[in-house]
Amino acid sequence: MPTDQQVEAAVTAVAHPNIALIKYWGKRDERLMIPYTDSLSMTLDVYPTITTVRLSPAAPADDVRLDGAPAEGEPRQRVVDFLDLVRGMAGRGEPAVVDTRNAVPTGAGLASSASGFAALALAAAAACGLDLAPTALSRLARRGSVSAARSVFEGFVLCHAGRGAGTAADLASYAEPVPVPGFDPALVIALVNAGPKAVSSRAAMRRTVETSPLYRSWATSSGHDLFEIRAALRRGDLDAVGEVAERNALGMHATMLAARPAVRYLSPATVAVLDGVLRLRADGVSAYATMDAGPNVKVLCHQADAARVAETVRAAAPGCSVLTARRGPGSHLRAETGQ
Ligand code: DP6
Repeated sequence: MPTDQQVEAAVTAVAHPNIALIKYWGKRDERLMIPYTDSLSMTLDVYPTITTVRLSPAAPADDVRLDGAPAEGEPRQRVVDFLDLVRGMAGRGEPAVVDTRNAVPTGAGLASSASGFAALALAAAAACGLDLAPTALSRLARRGSVSAARSVFEGFVLCHAGRGAGTAADLASYAEPVPVPGFDPALVIALVNAGPKAVSSRAAMRRTVETSPLYRSWATSSGHDLFEIRAALRRGDLDAVGEVAERNALGMHATMLAARPAVRYLSPATVAVLDGVLRLRADGVSAYATMDAGPNVKVLCHQADAARVAETVRAAAPGCSVLTARRGPGSHLRAETGQ
């Protein structure tokens, strides 16, 4: 039996994935996790990650569990490195017990690392007694996964790449909410393949930055896309938001296709869904696609059209599972704590 002094409070945090409408793809500092470009996303109301962290002074080492099973290899190391960072900030040294439950299929291009590190950042910081302001929490989550910086906040979120180097860059690279009152579209998610991907997004973006002759021009045009999408969001203009988001995503995939060797996440089912989206638009439905580091497609549309979009997507890629998301909450602590 542990003594009273050895039992630390367990802290549980919840975070949701986000889908970037203006993508982050490529880091200029891999150690500090500083992206090359700004990005803009929508936090979703589906597929939460729930993470409990408890410091365990008597434990021989960190105990990391992912969906009930002990984490191993790189996934475990990423969590341990992140815990070291938080312990360093808090001046603590105790091992931790981490229990993470993901409703999203891990590694399938549905941003499980975003919800995962946003939840871990909040739970680990609180377990270590750190009370971080949202901006500091977003910066911390970024050190686990850049996209996680955005899942700290609800709704539409802008992530600053930040300028400068070292500490200056670290301080300048964080996400913040973009208030868009009244803009509440649907995002129809077509899970054409929920299995793990062949190349991790981390490795793929590194290869793209190092070898793709298209990378620089995409990064430049992405800055223009961001400017346009922010104006479109302010107007609540779904067609303009969707048009920019779709071209930004296709451009990102073009940079990967031009990498050496090429990285191709888009499958025949992806392309069939993209064709379905084109048909919807030809029929006058506002529907726009975006894809991340995987074959799945997310279609932005008006809520009133979501059922029709879902039906088209199902017909285009028989067997795929389809789910409709809306804007969701930022990361938050759960009142009840685990053991
Ligand atoms: C294609 O944030 O998962 O989803 O920072 O290396 O952990 P790391 O990568 P990650 O990459 C996400 C890339 C993307 C686009 C985006 O979410 O902006």
